[in-house]
Amino acid sequence: MSNELARDPEAKETASAEEVISFDGVDKVYGADDPAKESVTALKDIDLDIRQGEFVSVVGPSGCGKTTLLHMAAGLLEATNGSVRINGVDVQGPDHKRKEVGLVFQHPVALEWRTVRKNILLPVQILKENGAIEGDMDEYRDRVDDLISLVGLEGFGDSYPNELSGGMQQRVTISQSLVYNPSVLLMDEPFGSLDAMTKDQLNVELLRIWRETEKTILFITHDLDEAVFLSDRVVVLSPRPGEVADDVEIDLDRPRNEETRGSERFVELSAALHKNFRSLR
Ligand SMILES: Nc1ncnc2c1ncn2[C@@H]1O[C@H](COP(=O)(O)OP(=O)(O)OP(=O)(O)O)[C@@H](O)[C@H]1O
Ligand SMILES: [Mg+2]
Repeated sequence: MSNELARDPEAKETASAEEVISFDGVDKVYGADDPAKESVTALKDIDLDIRQGEFVSVVGPSGCGKTTLLHMAAGLLEATNGSVRINGVDVQGPDHKRKEVGLVFQHPVALEWRTVRKNILLPVQILKENGAIEGDMDEYRDRVDDLISLVGLEGFGDSYPNELSGGMQQRVTISQSLVYNPSVLLMDEPFGSLDAMTKDQLNVELLRIWRETEKTILFITHDLDEAVFLSDRVVVLSPRPGEVADDVEIDLDRPRNEETRGSERFVELSAALHKNFRSLR
């Protein structure tokens, strides 16, 4: 990648103090302990630090290990080598996720027989049953109402998922990940199945939510322009086994809006990222 797009070397030196998500020498080999199967090295020697409040996107060709990376941060998968830490603590299984990490999958996960309000509350009920959350549900019921307006679903709290559009259902999914107030959001192509216009609109709204809630976000996408628009940094993974091929600082001003996409710098950053991506194949 051209020099002007390389990360500022001084920025790296200040990075250590507030690392919220860190991958340190991480490999992931599927089937390593099953001699009957051929093993697949999905990720190799991943070193990646994400600081408090940063918005970092990971892009890379299909099958390069993006979901694997995210699931390791969520504690749904274990690293084969190296360590994954959230807020300085080793991630050791999904228990860790319960308090600090919200996970947003590519497709909405709302239950069709529950209203929007009850769907948003669902993660809290599960966490309460598991003993991960104590205390009064009223606090969370109030929070659900706040979230409904935060994500722009006012008036739809008592609707059922099948009465909502795909974009509205994805807002429910985002609310579900925010309801127990995790400090970290892990998002796996959350807008991948939406049309371009809805996606652009939700991008702007996600940035507003990020700003208002001060989360640290690790965002996976296939869409390079989406990555540029949203992020402080875009991490590029190579084809499998995924290795960090580039880590690009996105120095576009914030707050960003629809006009950002037409700016000279946006077009420049996007073109460079596309070029870099093509050179990986
Ligand atoms: N449970 C599993 N067992 C064996 N191999 C797996 C498993 N899950 C993923 N893989 C392999 O690991 C590699 C990375 O998969 P992963 O789902 O992380 O890729 P991805 O970058 O998210 O792809 P996509 O962009 O298509 O979503 C793929 O080659 C896949 O076949
Ligand atoms: Mg994936």
